Amino acid sequence: MKAVVLVGGEGTRLRPLTFRTPKPLLTIANQPFLERQLSWMGRHGVTEVVLSLGYLPDAFVAHFPDGEFEGIRLRYAVEPEPLGTAGAVRFAADLAGVDERFFVCNGDVLTTLDLGALAAFHDEREAMATIHLVRVADPSAFGVVPTFDDGEVKAFVEKPPPGQAPTDWINAGTYVLEPSVLDRIPADINSSIERETFPRMLDQRGQLYAMQSDGYWLDIGTPDKYLAAHADVISGALGLPPVAGAVEEEPGIWLEPGAVVDPSTRLVPPVLVGRDAAIGPGAWVSGTSIGAGCTVGYGARVARSVLHDGAVVGRAADVADCVLGRDVEVPEAAVLRDALRVCEPA
Ligand code: GTP
Repeated sequence: MKAVVLVGGEGTRLRPLTFRTPKPLLTIANQPFLERQLSWMGRHGVTEVVLSLGYLPDAFVAHFPDGEFEGIRLRYAVEPEPLGTAGAVRFAADLAGVDERFFVCNGDVLTTLDLGALAAFHDEREAMATIHLVRVADPSAFGVVPTFDDGEVKAFVEKPPPGQAPTDWINAGTYVLEPSVLDRIPADINSSIERETFPRMLDQRGQLYAMQSDGYWLDIGTPDKYLAAHADVISGALGLPPVAGAVEEEPGIWLEPGAVVDPSTRLVPPVLVGRDAAIGPGAWVSGTSIGAGCTVGYGARVARSVLHDGAVVGRAADVADCVLGRDVEVPEAAVLRDALRVCEPA
């Protein structure tokens, strides 16, 4: 089956991390997020993916120079201007000559959803489009989707005020679409699949369905969620090791080849230490993902944070709830809280 993956957004909520790296190519536990998503799709039988590109498209082509990943054929649909989530799907599907039902995935959703089950649900109901739903504690920031017992969508309620949502099942950003849906999306015009295409399909009964599932699901698009995704992946929430080649030294403590942790350093799970990183002596690291070649100095404390490759935490520095971009250096004895840091362009 083919899939269109929407990866054209600017990822404004993750700035400055996304100024030079598009959100889908940011790493989660030392693997680019999009690679994780492609592996997930491949496990569920997807053989061809059209990447719907807009922002920093060259970064994707450079990342997958062979137009292939783990046996999945990759194609690139670069929008001349942002077409929104619906316009982008139409543009990408037209380019790929989609002529049978296909998946559409937001490029910032980390999930264990069984895509085959979503397609089977869609087929059983002879739906025109089927949406994956997940349950969240606070649906007020999401598109809420109440359904009838058989899964047919009743309504779309976008970002309901707290306490007023008709249900806590929300649109999780993965869909199965029949090619006929494409005829309902104007070509070359910015439009939203969530706010325009799907609500308009409710004009006629029996077209739009939604499947609830209770597997793991997270939208990685905000700093808090981006950090949470690391902790979840390292803790095994996806049912997989956090990254190929890592070894679990003790429960929740993973080391990649060449990582050196001084025996006097305390690691509190979940922790991933990347290739050739050096930690300690006397450091204290908790709930943190450390990239390749990073250094955490003598007596430093690092909590609930993410260090991209080459980042350095100086001696006795104290870092919590931070993302340190590639090669960022935290000076000796500095205290850093709730920060997203990147190096200035050279
Ligand atoms: P924010 O700017 O932080 O809201 O992030 P975003 O740009 O990723 O937007 P959002 O999270 O709402 O987008 C959901 C998914 O759709 C992401 O995977 C985006 O990459 C993608 N997306 C959003 N707008 C467009 C668009 O105009 N074109 C394409 N191709 N993809 C888009």
